[in-house]
Amino acid sequence: MGTEEVQRIISARPRGEEAGMEEHLRPRRLTEYIGQERVKEQLEIFIRAARERDEPLDHVLLYGPPGLGKTTLAHCIANELGVGMRVTSGPAIERPGDLAAILTNLSEKDVLFIDEIHRLNHAVEEILYPAMEDYALDIVIGKGPGARALRLDLPRFTLVGATTRAGMLASPLRDRFGVVNRLDFYGGREMEQIVARGARILEVTVEPAAIQELARRARGTPRVANRLLKRSRDYAQVRSDGRLSAEVAREALTLLQVDELGLDEVDRRIMTVLIEKFGGGPVGLDTLAAVVAEEPETLEDVCEPYLLQIGFLQRTPRGRCVTTAARSHLGYPGP
Ligand SMILES: Nc1ncnc2c1ncn2[C@@H]1O[C@H](COP(=O)(O)OP(=O)(O)OP(=O)(O)O)[C@@H](O)[C@H]1O
Ligand SMILES: [Mg+2]
Repeated sequence: MGTEEVQRIISARPRGEEAGMEEHLRPRRLTEYIGQERVKEQLEIFIRAARERDEPLDHVLLYGPPGLGKTTLAHCIANELGVGMRVTSGPAIERPGDLAAILTNLSEKDVLFIDEIHRLNHAVEEILYPAMEDYALDIVIGKGPGARALRLDLPRFTLVGATTRAGMLASPLRDRFGVVNRLDFYGGREMEQIVARGARILEVTVEPAAIQELARRARGTPRVANRLLKRSRDYAQVRSDGRLSAEVAREALTLLQVDELGLDEVDRRIMTVLIEKFGGGPVGLDTLAAVVAEEPETLEDVCEPYLLQIGFLQRTPRGRCVTTAARSHLGYPGP
């Protein structure tokens, strides 16, 4: 990740110092979790059914762009099930033995949450397959001709995996999830509810029009909404009387260089480069990333999903293209 990206106010990725705030604002139960109605309804049914049968919930895969609530949802699932949750991530599990240690320490029906599950290495994945399928751990004792395979029983558990890149998951792994849910960008109403909820928890006095303004510019992403709210609160405190009016919110957002659609300087640079240097595209991801000095992965995971969603960018087999809508937003004449 480039340092540039870390500074972005609209970055959907969490920033180090934000961990505390995220915990503070994180919904704990499904009833507090705003939006994603279809996903929630499904989960409610499956969770209830599992509880009634006194069985662990089937394994759940959650995917979608950063900051939309995958980790939050995983916590809600464990809370609704009334079980413990162990949290880890793909890159944190280096060796098969690390995963074996985690699995053998789970309690019956616990949730094991693996974030960035697409980054598990192959040797670790091999341990996960029988664990998911048969709640079993296969180990080999000894070496050479005397080696023996041993199968140990594991507690029956629920794996909740999260990823921004479902496409990078090995298909045998993907196939072992009984429940697969994609999280989408939130709609306007939901974003307003999320901002209002954040303001309540942070005890900010905020005008309804300011809520709308923040919601509109938070690119359908709760993490961004919370961040814009916090920064506007600071602005209101220092430059005004602490109350967040629509006008103060707009001033704060202008200072932060977040425009009416939630685009920031990096988004605008991506599109300007596409228009001015590449005649609107198509241009390959790596070339584009090099010219705007971002990691291709950042571009693909963080910037593009929203630009695609609002119809500013198109992905074609030959590369990325800007659309007429993007040109007119940036004040360029049509192609
Ligand atoms: N449905 C929701 N309702 C209210 N707040 C939400 C919701 N989803 C997410 N949030 C807020 O947004 C923050 C970011 O969400 P979360 O950490 O769950 O995203 P994520 O999808 O796991 O992101 P990443 O891909 O970066 O891990 C949370 O701390 C929470 O405060
Ligand atoms: Mg997360």
